[in-house]
Amino acid sequence: MINVGLLGCGNIGRIIAKGQDNFKITAVYDTAEAKVNAFGKEFGAVPYTDFASFLKESCDVIVEAASAAAVKSHAKDVLKSGKDIIIMSVGALADEAFREELLDTARENSCKIHIPSGAVLGLDNIKVGQIAKVDKILLRTTKSPASLKREISERTQLFGGKAGDCVREFPKNTNVAESLSLAVGKDIDVELWADPAEDRNMHEIFFEGEFGEIYARIRNVPSPDNPATSYLAALSILSLLRNLDSPLVIGA
Ligand SMILES: NC(=O)c1ccc[n+]([C@@H]2O[C@H](COP(=O)([O-])OP(=O)(O)OC[C@H]3O[C@@H](n4cnc5c(N)ncnc54)[C@H](O)[C@@H]3O)[C@@H](O)[C@H]2O)c1
Repeated sequence: MINVGLLGCGNIGRIIAKGQDNFKITAVYDTAEAKVNAFGKEFGAVPYTDFASFLKESCDVIVEAASAAAVKSHAKDVLKSGKDIIIMSVGALADEAFREELLDTARENSCKIHIPSGAVLGLDNIKVGQIAKVDKILLRTTKSPASLKREISERTQLFGGKAGDCVREFPKNTNVAESLSLAVGKDIDVELWADPAEDRNMHEIFFEGEFGEIYARIRNVPSPDNPATSYLAALSILSLLRNLDSPLVIGA
């Protein structure tokens, strides 16, 4: 049984808690006191609003499902305490100086930082970009105007440029772009579109290199409790946790 400390009791946190199987959430932390207390009671985990106390719990791994701000504030301390961390709010790693510091801290403490596949697909083989020549990698994301909190009546491009700049302009829509950038080992090209005809969160990946070419399209259903989060993202962390202690590692 893997003991998990959960940072963030929102939509993804709840889906993880409901999917407990080979792992048990033993401790939970959130800044929203009433929420963390109710969550702890419902799922039999010790609730904390003080991070230092939360970190003293003997967990095998901390799952961050909170916000990029939470990653910036707490990820280093998690690694310094000798625990592995699974990061959902991967946009936080677009800050290169922060990312390098975090990687150094992980190395110094022999810990792992896991990035789940989240709302995207293909991170496994997109990693070939770290070792083979890449000619093109473009992510085209299309969402409904409501999901982007815009009032737009026709298909409109909101952003075109590098993932790192998209993170600064659209911080809430960058987890997928940053996951792909980390996988391929460079700042990828990104287009962000709002389309009233699209009711799902669609990601298209155009990837070309010496291996050949990939076109992949994924149309994600929004999470029931948070339309900004694709349901697949929550399921992907659940599958990562369920496979942590498996002797068979697939597609990593
Ligand atoms: N990697 C991906 O593909 C992917 C996909 C979807 C969502 N996400 C990210 O996962 C995170 C969680 O998503 P969600 O739908 O569960 O969000 P949510 O808003 O439903 O829940 C977040 C919870 O975290 C808590 N929280 C926020 N900041 C905190 C902090 N600094 N310290 C402690 N608690 C804090 C909130 O109180 C809330 O309870 C978001 O950052 C989202 O961007 C990543």
